[in-house]
Formats: sequence, C-alpha cells, structure tokens
Amino acid sequence: MSHAEDHEGTRRDFLYYATAGAGAVTAGAAVWPLVNQMNPSADVQALSSIRVDVGGVEPGTQLTVKWLGKPVFIRRRTDAEIEAAREVEMSELVDTNAQNRNDMSLKATDQNRTLDEAGEWLVMIGVCTHLGCVPIGNGSGDFGGWFCPCHGSHYDTAGRIRKGPAPENLWIPVAEFVDESTIKLG
Ligand code: FES
Repeated sequence: MSHAEDHEGTRRDFLYYATAGAGAVTAGAAVWPLVNQMNPSADVQALSSIRVDVGGVEPGTQLTVKWLGKPVFIRRRTDAEIEAAREVEMSELVDTNAQNRNDMSLKATDQNRTLDEAGEWLVMIGVCTHLGCVPIGNGSGDFGGWFCPCHGSHYDTAGRIRKGPAPENLWIPVAEFVDESTIKLG
C-alpha cells in the first residue's frame, strides 16, 4: 500500500489556477485508495473512502488529494491561522452553517469545521461554492485563506466565504483521523 504526499502546495495551487479557466481540474498528489480485498464491497469502498497519510505535512502547508473526482484540501494550519479563524464573530459571516458533512446542523465556528480540537487540521472539498472552480490556497485572498480567481471569492483561514459571489463556506467532507497520521475521507 502506498501513499504519496504533496509537499509542493504552492506549485499545485498554481496549477489549479492555471487550469481553472478551462474548467479542468488537475489531480493533486497521487494517493491510492486503500482497499480491503477481503471485503465484498471493496469496489464500493474504493470509490467512497480513501485514507491519506498526513505524517509529512508541516504546519503552514497543505496537501491536495483527489477524492470522488474532486480536490480535497488538507491543511495543517499555523497558530496564527487558527487564531485568526477563531476571532471571527458569527455576525461577520456570509454563511453561518459550518457546511460540515459530518453534521449539517452545526454553526460555522472554526471549531465546528476543523478535524481536531486544537484546530490544526482543516479538511475541505476544494471546490468554490459559486460555480465550482478550485480556489488557490496558502494564505490567498483578503482573509489569508483561499481565493477563487474565477469571479473573486475570498475565503478565510477556516475556508468560510467572506467576500465575493460564493454563497456557501467551502464544504467539509466526512473525515476522521484513524491513527495519528492518517486521515480517512468518507
Ligand atoms: S467559481 Fe469561484 S468565484 Fe465563481
């Protein structure tokens, strides 16, 4: 079983930027689904669930993996990013729903969007909620998070929409840590 990590977040993000106009999505890191061959529904699981080794992801960097045909951003945030996200009041948000597919009743606090309690790990579907381009990360946009160049949507360090035409926060997929360095998507 193999994992691969993308340590070149900036370059990958640039690729997304370069291809966004053409509607193409370039797959990020090569990540192979882990399939339990003993399970009769292995083919279904291969589509709906993957495990990602995040052991090599340093604070302030992100990994982009392809899952169910979409890019998924896995960012290990810095203390400053966490602090900036947690200072934001609900009244400042465009979309007050956490858009967390683990529980759609949650409010959009930073704590309700991160994978761990400390808020170091933010996992999001990397698709702009306006018309589906792939936003640029690594501190982009007016709020230091992600920026979608297609029509100018700015997301904060928690991936919440703060300015521009996108109506919703970037979606949080069903995800969990299955051990200290492995995140399961789906
Ligand atoms: S698709 Fe992102 S702003 Fe329009």
